[in-house]
Amino acid sequence: MLESSKNQLLTEVGLGTPMGGLLRRYWMPVAAVSEFEDKSIKPVRLLGEDLTLYKDLSGTFGLVDRHCPHRRADTSYGFVEQCGLRCNYHGWLFEQDGRCIEQPYEDVAVPDARFKDKVRIKAYPVETRAGLIWAYLGPEPTPLVPNWEPFTWKNGFVQIVFADVPCNWLQCQENSIDPLHFEWMHMNWSVRLDDKMGPYSPRHLKLEFEEFDYGFVYRRIREGMSESDPMWTVGRVCLWPNALFTGDHFEWRVPVDDERTLSVTWAFSRVPKESEVYLQERIPAWHGPVYDPQTGDLISSHVMNQDFVAWIGQGTISDRTQEHLGTSDRGVLMLRKRLLNDLEAVGKGEDPKAIIRDPEVNQCVALPIAERKLLTEGLTREELAKHPIHGRQLTEGYPFQQGQPPEVREAFLAAMGVRCP
Ligand code: FES
Ligand SMILES: [Fe+2]
Repeated sequence: MLESSKNQLLTEVGLGTPMGGLLRRYWMPVAAVSEFEDKSIKPVRLLGEDLTLYKDLSGTFGLVDRHCPHRRADTSYGFVEQCGLRCNYHGWLFEQDGRCIEQPYEDVAVPDARFKDKVRIKAYPVETRAGLIWAYLGPEPTPLVPNWEPFTWKNGFVQIVFADVPCNWLQCQENSIDPLHFEWMHMNWSVRLDDKMGPYSPRHLKLEFEEFDYGFVYRRIREGMSESDPMWTVGRVCLWPNALFTGDHFEWRVPVDDERTLSVTWAFSRVPKESEVYLQERIPAWHGPVYDPQTGDLISSHVMNQDFVAWIGQGTISDRTQEHLGTSDRGVLMLRKRLLNDLEAVGKGEDPKAIIRDPEVNQCVALPIAERKLLTEGLTREELAKHPIHGRQLTEGYPFQQGQPPEVREAFLAAMGVRCP
């Protein structure tokens, strides 16, 4: 259990809060590049701040205050120009860095006053990488957007998946260092959801957690597994500060505010050897539902939907004063302790964990990957079809989240060479 004041400290993300200050030191994925093929403006809420994300006519992305500094109109109803975003109320135009470069009436009526030079809109840096749009709300100097190793991989079909999860980010991230839930929430519960009483999945016998430069690794031994299994020798990654990394996909838990989280998945599927060389022209993005619109119940059919059931079930902000942690929760404790230490580091003016500033390092940031060979070298189509996890995607659809649009499914199958586009 955690005392109430620490629970509050770790879960509040707004501007001016300690945890909000820590999380602002990291780039956060907020949208997908392909979302801007048919629109130029998207309102976003991030770390308790209402913002407007846009792509101007020159193709530059910007992220500014949702409210215009003139008389507070909603900038997400504005329109983009060659350079920047124009407020639709009186036409003030703002550049990516927040400078006001036009005030149509003032510029004509009192040009010498140069009122525009005295006005700025709050603006944050935005970058694109791996089909995602990343935002940085922290202080300068701005660190680099991590170039995680899978972002450099070739011959893969990537898709980006979002979900709006109505609870605090931290309970979502604690799931990233909770290997035991896999057995119960995903395996055994799925058996029961299928109206079967068994057989249940092999039990976890041993868990280990270790810190490394970019997060924590968790390792597991389940019944029937040897200590040479990659789940024990390599393990999985709780990526700092707000993601899970399993080798073939990342799941970020992006804090929208204290009570909401944007789940962002970046999933890589290696095409079979026969489909090489494969170059993906466009990384599709889609938004999956969390609740069943018919029944109003939480969806439980897919892996991450099951996770959402756990996170939302813990309460909007989990009351950690009421917990009873066991030995399986050692990783959760390590994560909380590291966050508290990071808060201290930031308080002393130091960088917290896993900030990347060296361009050399950022050429390609390697991570522990249990199935590295499979993901980088690929399988033949026949081997892939027989693979217990990756093969199922060929016949059963996207297993992680409900709601994959048919056109994304088609594009995936075409990439896999299973069906022609
Ligand atoms: S409120 Fe935006 S230009 Fe007037
Ligand atoms: Fe899970």
